[in-house]
Amino acid sequence: MTTRVILDCDPGHDDALAILLAARRLDLRAITTVAGNQTLARTTLNARRMCTVAGITDVPVAAGAYRPLAQDPLHAEEIHGVSGLDGPDFPPPTVDVDPRTAFQLASDVLREPTTIIATGPLTNVAAMLESPHNIERIVIMGGSTGHGNMAPLAEFNILADPEAADLVFRSGLPITMCGLDVTHQALATPQILRRITEIGTPLAQICHDLLTYFTDTYRVHFGFEAPPVHDPVAVAAVIDPTLISARPLNVEIELTGTHTRGATVVDLDRVTGRKPNALVATGLDVDRFWDLMIGVIR
Ligand code: BDR
Ligand code: CA
Repeated sequence: MTTRVILDCDPGHDDALAILLAARRLDLRAITTVAGNQTLARTTLNARRMCTVAGITDVPVAAGAYRPLAQDPLHAEEIHGVSGLDGPDFPPPTVDVDPRTAFQLASDVLREPTTIIATGPLTNVAAMLESPHNIERIVIMGGSTGHGNMAPLAEFNILADPEAADLVFRSGLPITMCGLDVTHQALATPQILRRITEIGTPLAQICHDLLTYFTDTYRVHFGFEAPPVHDPVAVAAVIDPTLISARPLNVEIELTGTHTRGATVVDLDRVTGRKPNALVATGLDVDRFWDLMIGVIR
């Protein structure tokens, strides 16, 4: 029995790999898209593109929020390109968009207990909490216990909609946070790229081209030798919780700081007396993570 999930995402190179991993190894009931790495129109098109090349034809794809709750949209064109999924040559998508909105689709799926995996800004997830639901657990790629990647202390998915993140972290639901602490361990090194190319299929070629583009932008923008493949880590944590090590800690979202809006304030040493509201991942079994990821590409 695999876990029944909704993947809420903003593809995005690493989101595209998260779609593949979730579709192959979980009971993926819906892909909902949100504005983030690119506009909603582009992230939705990109989800359809990835589903098309991966032969994922039985999972509805529905579009959600086109803007954050309380600020202007923030995109990551410098990392993911103008399309949001620059690099590979994608054929025209044959997977359609579901006529329902992401919220209607989610509320249909959430009639039964379901885990939400969120790999984009949390705008859609915050809205899903508003309707009756059976959300079992929310597993998030976002935040960090220390540094950020869009601001000194803020990670992209949280900074792109801090108010939504705040609602989610205050929801009282079981939350697992897979932040930069853990995703910066999932590096697509040249050896990993070689293992993917050796598979020799058209899908492996697309994944290789995605990761090559990601390698280049991470090198230019962040000076990384190999790019961190963030979003599949959150999916992997649902497939096999033993892949990560995590601790129950209190996490607050900074909404007003002069220099720190969008930071995840993690009470690592439990100095505040505030109750833990999330399992915060800090360790990853890197080899087993890549075996899992490469296995589904194969
Ligand atoms: C997160 O931001 C996006 O650019 C990636 O897709 C990932 O979800 C990493 O900070
Ligand atoms: Ca993402």
